[in-house]
Amino acid sequence: MSDRTTAEVSEAEIAVHWQEENYVNQPERFVAQANLKDKTVFDRFSLDNVPDCFKEYADLLHWYRPWDITLDTSNPPFWRWFVGGRINASYNCVDRHLAKYKNKTAIHFVPEPEHEAIQHVTYQELYVRVNEVAALLRDGCGLKTGDRVTLHMPMVPELPITMLACARLGVIHSQVFSGFSGKATADRIVDSESRLLITMDAYCRGGQLLDHKEKADVAVSEALKEGVKVEKVLVWQRYPGRYSSKTPLVGGRDFVMNEMLSAYRRLRVDPVEMRAEDPLFLMYTSGTTGRPKGCQHSTGGYLSYVAGTSKYIQDIHPEDVYWCMADIGWITGHSYIVYGPLALAASSVVYEGLPTYPDAGRPWRIAEELDVNIFHTSPTAIRALRRAGPDEPLKYNHHFKHMTTVGEPIEPAVWKWYHEVVGKGEAVIVDTWWQTENGGFLCSTVPALHLMKPGSAGPGVPGIHPIIYDEAGAEIPPRSGRAGNICIQNPWPGSFQTIWKDPDRFVQQYYARYCKDRTSRDWRDWPYMAGDGALQAADGYYRILGRIDDVINVAGHRLGTKEIESASLLVEEIAEAAVVPARDEIKGKVPDLYVSLKPGLAPSEDIRKRVEDSVIREIGAIARPRRVVIVPDMPKTRSGKIMRRVLGAISNNEDAGDISTLANPEIVDEIRKMKS
Ligand code: WTA
Repeated sequence: MSDRTTAEVSEAEIAVHWQEENYVNQPERFVAQANLKDKTVFDRFSLDNVPDCFKEYADLLHWYRPWDITLDTSNPPFWRWFVGGRINASYNCVDRHLAKYKNKTAIHFVPEPEHEAIQHVTYQELYVRVNEVAALLRDGCGLKTGDRVTLHMPMVPELPITMLACARLGVIHSQVFSGFSGKATADRIVDSESRLLITMDAYCRGGQLLDHKEKADVAVSEALKEGVKVEKVLVWQRYPGRYSSKTPLVGGRDFVMNEMLSAYRRLRVDPVEMRAEDPLFLMYTSGTTGRPKGCQHSTGGYLSYVAGTSKYIQDIHPEDVYWCMADIGWITGHSYIVYGPLALAASSVVYEGLPTYPDAGRPWRIAEELDVNIFHTSPTAIRALRRAGPDEPLKYNHHFKHMTTVGEPIEPAVWKWYHEVVGKGEAVIVDTWWQTENGGFLCSTVPALHLMKPGSAGPGVPGIHPIIYDEAGAEIPPRSGRAGNICIQNPWPGSFQTIWKDPDRFVQQYYARYCKDRTSRDWRDWPYMAGDGALQAADGYYRILGRIDDVINVAGHRLGTKEIESASLLVEEIAEAAVVPARDEIKGKVPDLYVSLKPGLAPSEDIRKRVEDSVIREIGAIARPRRVVIVPDMPKTRSGKIMRRVLGAISNNEDAGDISTLANPEIVDEIRKMKS
């Protein structure tokens, strides 16, 4: 665990945090058309009505066989939802829409180069392509229900197509964010024991065609070192008919997906009738150790939850054009680009590249061209767009009815720009708090029913009942404005089922701390600990203060400090490493990396550079430290523990507070001088 306690986190965060803000009304036009404007929802989804309330979400889907038990609690905290039910996610996101929406666009794909035409994939075309890929995976690669496949794909329509093809077969997909390195991909291949890797030759980003296949070669060779042999690498072509990577294909191992598919033209594959609690996918995320954990998400519960929250919180109707700017490689993209919107037959935008390239007008041009009316992005993207083009949105004729922010706290000033300039005052905004583990939203306002409050996530969404505990395990009085560890009192169907191959860690990390009775089969005794500090204001809205563990939220992306530290320790000169979050105007937080050298070695630019390279090689460029500082020694307690809190204060130019417990207090000033 971190050496920061909740109290310390909250004190620091509150100090720089905003004051209470005024409420903002939602536009009446929005309310008139909203999916959810019936206040009885809060009674229907009360704590007493858990788990039955969630049937309302499951009923949004097509089930081959209805479930017998809504929630099975016989093996706590491994809750099983909709037991006995049979369902297929691919059928629900594709086939069942054909009767009514065959010719409607399912996916609008916006390539980065603006001269390349936008592709509009209809539900019929999605159906045909998903079937062909499923046929190839089943008949050409021998994949079967329960097998794992690692995907390392960029933002192209082939990514959701491949995911839905896996889902059709009950093959568990594990998509790794395309910005992660080959080594990071290898770690996920090894943990999930994938025999197949699906990737793409190249993709466009920031005006360049990036070679992506090279990472696949690293991934395969690194996985082999760990004893997992990838038998086949399937490579999609970014430009069909042309191989765009400089990395050659390896004979007998690598196959061009686009070419292989010609043998499966027009083949149809019956969706496999999966048990509700069969896993749909793994999503790896960072935690407190150096090893990312594979969050295992279910088929029936997950899909019900993302469909329900997409309908009620995102307010998606089939006629909407919905654009979530996240990457499908993160949970937000899985839930709110692919599974949620497609389950509701919406048109979902997939875009390649960066929001600010070639200029900060790009998102608004896309929104105008596609008539996007629901927009979803992160505070980091909003801050970057605001800085690069504060007046840009006003130049375009786009109109949003609904906008979302997710992933990090949003400052009221940034919220206001989002509301007034991006949304032109016409849109309702929801600030949604949740995590990879949760499958879907935990806290947010219900857009037609709650007033907006800039800088605050809002109450628990229907059916989610948060509670805040202090360090000692006592409940902090509701609405008291006092900070503590936010937990959820009840199970919900979107929650992950376990950590892949590590059920003990699942119990330990999320349930052990506040469990009231280990022998109890009553879920009320097993609150879920989110790992965030939070407070509940008098109005019932929650304000999220930040992680209480060793996780840094960089640009809304979750990185483990231990993973970065382990990467730097691979450089042989390094004795110790400590990563702390430093505040950043655009990205929210960025990692500062402090390292000390083995005895007798002198600091050099070469060592510093090799540490940085190692982090990029092991994890990816998103983990690049803001700075690598080689220190003569770490601030340490008398028992030899590195005081990261002190380093954090140095990075943020704050007072280091009480340093009397340090064995070497003089080091604090020394490091401060070095840094400046
Ligand atoms: C943080 C992303 C404040 C939080 C969906 C959480 C937020 C972590 C918000 C999960 C928000 C997410 N306001 N903080 N609206 N949303 N967070 O797993 O610290 O990538 O624990 O899931 O992001 O990040 P993850």
